[in-house]
Amino acid sequence: MEYQHQPVLLEEVLAVLQPQLGQRFIDATVGGAGYTAALATAVGPKGLVVGFDLDPLAIAAAQEKLSREKLTNVLLINDNFANLTTALAERQIDGQFNGIVLDLGLSSAQLADRQRGFSFNQEGPLDMAFGPDSPTSTVEIVNHWTESELAKIIRKYGEEPWAEPLAKAIVRRRGRHPFTTSQELVEIVKETLPQKYQARSRQHPATKLFQALRIATNQELDNLSAVLNQSISLLCPGGRLAAVSFHSLEDRIVKQFFLQESKDCFCPPEFPICQCGHHARLKIVYRHPLLASEAEIMANPRSRSAKLRAASKIE
Ligand SMILES: C[S@@+](CC[C@H](N)C(=O)[O-])C[C@H]1O[C@@H](n2cnc3c(N)ncnc32)[C@H](O)[C@@H]1O
Repeated sequence: MEYQHQPVLLEEVLAVLQPQLGQRFIDATVGGAGYTAALATAVGPKGLVVGFDLDPLAIAAAQEKLSREKLTNVLLINDNFANLTTALAERQIDGQFNGIVLDLGLSSAQLADRQRGFSFNQEGPLDMAFGPDSPTSTVEIVNHWTESELAKIIRKYGEEPWAEPLAKAIVRRRGRHPFTTSQELVEIVKETLPQKYQARSRQHPATKLFQALRIATNQELDNLSAVLNQSISLLCPGGRLAAVSFHSLEDRIVKQFFLQESKDCFCPPEFPICQCGHHARLKIVYRHPLLASEAEIMANPRSRSAKLRAASKIE
């Protein structure tokens, strides 16, 4: 099956990163290699793009696309972006980068993959792991986590107000028959959420539960914090960090990180003198996140919820 993903906010990302001939970039989320290929073209044969993805299928498809496009200045690494620093050190890739980009979440190819269970619109095995070395599995979470652990992630990661009844229904149902497919979960959601609530929502009723399970399976929020923390020291002065997020939990982490790192001190206001000793390391590029244009949303509805934030390393 062809690996398909239409990059979101590509022009805006390139405008932020301003890639020039001979420069070095990290694309922490290769996916369909849309950003990777554009960056590799812009930096030319003397430049370098290092691309990370947890998904071996994404890496294999990217390799093919880059060979087809005769782009030989890309190094692809099948690893978690939370391991950015160690993965580069292991390969003796020293020095700093002119920019790092993160395009969070999953690709359209992963969503459409019938061997996995990312989509509530099609039947698939209950597997929402981006890669084979996921710390836990979706089946394990749904069939073995306690009711209160389930309620916690559904509320926290799915922001689902009906988290407790949903967790209870999942536990009751798995006692009779363990869950194996995505559509079994969709059925439980439709049976459990009040009809009025389902009718009022513009989203599919299972959106929030699926988001919660995907985030928990891949420990997405912890990975995001880890990569942000490592990124600054990998950037050269003036280098830029750009992040595209698709839901408020990710966006909040990026926004808070940029705010914190753009301040000289984050001691509580009642402290008469600074005790944290923190110095600003980033300068925020846009006060408000960039969103997709109407035209992009028409052409690629997935871009509707995308938010791009960017910051540059203080020189
Ligand atoms: C939205 S897609 C990226 C699309 C890409 N920008 C393009 O232009 O085609 C997100 C990708 O990030 C990968 N991913 C998600 N979390 C990751 C992590 N912690 N480490 C490495 N890759 C990750 C997913 O496997 C997926 O392929």
